Formats: sequence, structure tokens, C-alpha cells
Amino acid sequence: MNKKIVLSGIQATGRLTLGNYLGAINNWVKMQEEYDCYYMIANLHSLTVRNNPEDLKNNTLKILAIYIAAGLDPEKNTIFIQSQVKEHSELGWILDCYTYMGELSRMTQFKDKSIKHADNINAGLFTYPALMAADILLYQANLVPVGEDQRQHLEITRDIAERFNKLYGKTFVIPDAYVKKESARVMGLQNPESKMSKSATNINDVIFLEDAPEVILKKFKKAVTDSENKIRFEPIQKPGVSNLMQIYSSVTGKTMSDIEKEFEGKGYGDFKITVANSVIEKLKPIQDKYQSILNNQEYLEKIYTKGAENARKVAAKTLNDVKHKIGIL
Ligand code: TYM
Repeated sequence: MNKKIVLSGIQATGRLTLGNYLGAINNWVKMQEEYDCYYMIANLHSLTVRNNPEDLKNNTLKILAIYIAAGLDPEKNTIFIQSQVKEHSELGWILDCYTYMGELSRMTQFKDKSIKHADNINAGLFTYPALMAADILLYQANLVPVGEDQRQHLEITRDIAERFNKLYGKTFVIPDAYVKKESARVMGLQNPESKMSKSATNINDVIFLEDAPEVILKKFKKAVTDSENKIRFEPIQKPGVSNLMQIYSSVTGKTMSDIEKEFEGKGYGDFKITVANSVIEKLKPIQDKYQSILNNQEYLEKIYTKGAENARKVAAKTLNDVKHKIGIL
């Protein structure tokens, strides 16, 4: 029986966070046994904000090293760098021509980033979802494991694919977002009303995957809670505590009622330390392996070269079909 196809990716901008790990990578690792998986580093998407070229290169390799350290097996999955499979750019352009300005202007990520980078609202930032649609549709992916913030991009991908299929006959598989409830939206530790983000201005808001254990502990101890001193899952009234519970649940597999029972009669101090330790323990094996993998540039090059070769075979087939259907010689 054919396995279902999975594709996902992470931008090569900035340092990866606990949000990226719990919302994406951790789920990818679990999926690799059951599905035919394509995991990429979206370095072309990174160009929508200004990067130092050296940083972009280094970040691309760092993310690859994290993928491997986190347990993605390069023998089981196709792991590649987006820019090395030229079909992405090519289908991205074609899909630009099947995507409407009106749809793109409704994207919340575009609106948010336009505010954050008001001096650089470039066309790539606007058409970003069409390139993301190309990433997914090239591989005929059935499932796209992402955090909640990417759901809207999955919806537009489906709309573009359906539009194309209607015009030219069945060309693309219509993908589904795969969003795990407990890890869908890891919130900031200082500002639990907004998601934990690489680009947060307050460093204590974010756990970076490279943070040392003592830094992780310190950040959790400082996490914003409330004055009730009761561990109870209530996202609207108790966003800080609920976020910590969600992190803990996602790391340990415990349910919210397990957690409420575990901390009955205990205060926030104990709770924060337990959550911090669970995260430290979860990240430790990744951190232990990460640096030595990153130092082995030859090994990384082998992985991404082979990954791009495999990816290209599948991507080229879809792109040829598309070109044939629309009359591009
Ligand atoms: P990016 O790089 O912003 O984020 C990578 C993944 O991490 C998830 N994520 C979170 N999940 C839970 N809580 C958080 N606080 C949190 N922060 C980030 C994101 O939802 C995402 O799954 N456009 C994509 C990259 C991309 C892509 C693709 C993804 C390019 N092409 C094709 C899937 C398929 C992005 O910017 O993700």
C-alpha cells in the first residue's frame, strides 16, 4: 500500500524556538515511521525579510543540524534545502498567476509582517503563500504538519490547487493541515496572548532550542502567570498558566486533567520548575548531538545533496505535468 505523503518546512531566519519544535519538528519525528516524508528548509521564503547573507547560510545548516539532532532520519525522509530544487521557484511563479490579490491581502502573516517590517513591504512578502503552495503541491502532499499560525496558508494552498484542478483536470492532491491541538500554538512566556516567536523583542518571552538548561529554568521561573495560584486550564482567563500547562502536556504526553491533579494544592513556583525541567530533559538529547552534527559539514552536505536529488525527481514530474497542461513549452 502506498504511504501518505507529508511535507513541511521551516524558514531559515533566526534561531529556532520551542514553538517551532513542539508545533512542528516534534510531530515530524513521530510521522516519519508511518508516512513518506519531505522536510525542507525554506531558505527562499527567508528572503522576504533582509538577512545578512552569511547568517542565512549558517542558519540553513543550523536548522538542518537541528532536524537531524531531533531525530529525523535522513535515510527514512527526504530532507532538503528549498533553493536546491529549482522547481519550487518555477511552480511558485506559475501559481502566482493563479492566486488573487484579494486572497493574498487577507493573509494575517502578511499583515503582521508588514507592520513589523514597515520599511520593506516587498512583493515576495505578499506572494509568499503561492511559493508555499508550490512547496506542498509539487510533492502531492496529503498532510502538512504545522502550527496553528500556518493554517491560513494551508487554506489558500487548497484553494489554489482546487482552482487549478478545476481549470485543467486533476493535477494536484488537495492537502490537509495536520495541527496537533496541544502544541498548535505555543505562546510567549512574558506575553501569553501572542505566540512564541523567533523575532520577539523580549528575550525572556522565548525559549530557543540552543538555550542552556540554566537559561531555560530562569526563563520559566520568570514566566507571567496570574494571582490565583491555582493550576487550572482556562486559556482565556489564565493564558499564562494554560500555556505552561500546554507546554508540559506536549512534552510529557499528560492530559490537562492529569496535570491539574498532579499540581493540586501546589503553587506556581513548583509548577514552573517542573515544566522547565521537562523541557530541559526533552531538549537535552537534541542539544547533546546538535553541535557535533553541525561541525560535520561534510555529513550535512551529503544529506542535503541526496535530499535535493530525491526531491527533484518528484518535483520535476509534477512541474512537467503542470507546464504541459497550461501550454508552456
Ligand atoms: P515558520 O518558519 O514561521 O515556522 C515553522 C513551523 O513552526 C511552527 N511554529 C509554531 N507552532 C506552535 N507554536 C508556535 N509558537 C510556533 N511558532 C512557529 C509553524 O506553524 C511552522 O509549522 N511558511 C512557513 C514555512 C514553510 C512551510 C512550507 C511550511 C514554507 N513552505 C510548506 C509547511 C509547508 C513558516 O514561515 O514557518
